[in-house]
Amino acid sequence: METKKVKIAVIGFGVVGSGVAKILQKNAEEITHKTGLQLKLAHVVDMDLVRPRPVTLPEGILHNDLEKVLSDDEVSIAVELVGGTEIAAEIQKKLLAAGKDVVTANKALLAERGEEIFETARQYNRCVSFEASCCGGIPVVSAIRTGLTANRISTMYGIVNGTCNYILSEMTESGKEYEVALKEAQAAGFAEADPTLDVNGSDSAHKLAILGLLAYGQKINYPDISTNGIENIQLTDIHYGKEMGYAMKLLAIAEQTDAGLSLRVHPSFINGHEPLAQASGPFNAVSIFGDAVGHTSYYGRGAGMMPTASAVVADIIDVARGNAQRVFDATPALGYITEPTVICQPEEIVSRFYLRLTVVDQPGVFAQIANVLGERKISISACLQHESKSDDRVPVVIMTHLARQGDMNKALEDMDKLDIVKEETICIHIVTPPKDG
Ligand code: HSE
Repeated sequence: METKKVKIAVIGFGVVGSGVAKILQKNAEEITHKTGLQLKLAHVVDMDLVRPRPVTLPEGILHNDLEKVLSDDEVSIAVELVGGTEIAAEIQKKLLAAGKDVVTANKALLAERGEEIFETARQYNRCVSFEASCCGGIPVVSAIRTGLTANRISTMYGIVNGTCNYILSEMTESGKEYEVALKEAQAAGFAEADPTLDVNGSDSAHKLAILGLLAYGQKINYPDISTNGIENIQLTDIHYGKEMGYAMKLLAIAEQTDAGLSLRVHPSFINGHEPLAQASGPFNAVSIFGDAVGHTSYYGRGAGMMPTASAVVADIIDVARGNAQRVFDATPALGYITEPTVICQPEEIVSRFYLRLTVVDQPGVFAQIANVLGERKISISACLQHESKSDDRVPVVIMTHLARQGDMNKALEDMDKLDIVKEETICIHIVTPPKDG
């Protein structure tokens, strides 16, 4: 078979850009052997030309002039790895207008301004590929877009942020404090340049917007995703959850409900026996339930230099083979107007809950708490109280059966007004994935 030469430009020579260059150098023969493509890195563009990187580029490839890429007609694929939503949008639009197909890991841009980018691609008959935007090296975009297309997807649960999963795992397994674990995740290169986006849940919500668009064939309005991160999670709740058989994960959830599509990101307790509970450290895991296929799950490294670069290079190959353009053209939610999705409001979701109350240690306390929950028709499934070291306050942990979030919100308001409750009650969702079959 004759080989085909493909010239590529990478814009942004950071962690992932370095990984892409490494793979293109190290696996060149392997890629040509399997695909018949000779991928040639022709330009690497970055403002910083001096910082040491973990890869050495051939002379003359690294420069800071985007115009050189735009005017190089031999470059057909450009990879945007700058990140952010402003400069990156301008760069992607310029690349598309110059006739380049774009490959990107930029989930923030696609989640918040995807429509604009996809429309621009359509205008110039180009395509945008974004496997690396969700879950690093796990091919979940391609699984949803192609392998699962035949299904009506009822629910999707994802541990889609490696930084948060690393932090929660370290807190759970080694009892580390939040700040210590966050610093370790940053040092390992999992975290975003601004880790606030990781820990406040925005990065997970960005990925949910993209996966939701593909799973439901609808544009997802990013602000419709109800988002809570892990910044306020306390070790004590992780320990109580563990004692009761649950692991804490930050979950991105899409769920078809009678009240519409629920899209949410929040810390969640999952039973320790569930496969999702086993994904620890920087690993990502996504469980998808389709009406034909049942439960499928995807697991692997969702962050870091080489796993993310693996997805970028996979997309480069997909574009070079001509698959990406065909799939892009045949995916209406990418760049065509679609009906707005009916969104289930957070109050309407139905969930189990974990509650930790700080109460006075005296007769009748449980009765008052049970009364407030009972008035809202919330049933207790388990409770736990250890003997207190303090004379006047004691933590009481309660797990509930399924309840409406709106009813739980009202119960929390009522509970926290009781004289016996001394601190704001902690409330965390307990998530029970559907049984398969
Ligand atoms: N910062 C992300 C994470 C990696 O921690 O998962 C890229 O999406």
